[in-house]
Amino acid sequence: MTDLRTTTTPPAQPDVRGGWRTPDRLYRLISSPVLRMILGWDLPRHDLRVVSRRPGSVCLEVGSGGGFYTSALKTHLGSGNDLIALDPSPSAMQALQHQLDGVPGARVSYVAGDGCKLPLADDQADTLFYGYSLEEMPDPLAAVREAHRVLRPGGELVLFLWRPVFTRHRRRPVVALLDELFERRRSSAGPQNIRLVYRKS
Ligand SMILES: C[S@@+](CC[C@H](N)C(=O)[O-])C[C@H]1O[C@@H](n2cnc3c(N)ncnc32)[C@H](O)[C@@H]1O
Repeated sequence: MTDLRTTTTPPAQPDVRGGWRTPDRLYRLISSPVLRMILGWDLPRHDLRVVSRRPGSVCLEVGSGGGFYTSALKTHLGSGNDLIALDPSPSAMQALQHQLDGVPGARVSYVAGDGCKLPLADDQADTLFYGYSLEEMPDPLAAVREAHRVLRPGGELVLFLWRPVFTRHRRRPVVALLDELFERRRSSAGPQNIRLVYRKS
């Protein structure tokens, strides 16, 4: 008699985990506004025009680093709004606070934290912004689920991804999860980067 029992193996988890952290020296180089502008892939005030503005909103920037986008984001959002800048390094957050003192715009709080385990309540943020940080997180899939948890329904998720770090092989399952959890509103791709805007239904 044939044994019809089958053994099922769980589907393999896609291998998207990070193995990359921008080395400090390289980070200083790529943080030069002139260099980033010349390379044609970053112009903060221009790039941030895709971020919607609503009075009284809370925007969380995950992976602020040296603040390449934070200053422009603070100005773009304007007064009466809250911006939370988050990065794992407490010293980077202190330096950023010092740097942005006196820059007009949104109220900023500086949080040392992990994008894979955001220190926010469910549905708390109106906007989430990731400037070349998702690809450096140890578990980008967990980070996307966290983004979905903390973003309020109707809220906006804006991601800039750096192609050389987030290669197609690692990126594809992450973008598939983004497309599954959120509604894609806009996307564009340049030679070095990809920019995506989503909305949570
Ligand atoms: C290439 S830098 C980009 C920084 C900045 N947004 C910019 O455009 O210059 C990547 C950033 O991701 C941050 N990062 C890495 N792992 C993280 C995590 N688990 N949670 C939050 N940020 C993380 C790094 O500390 C770093 O500041």
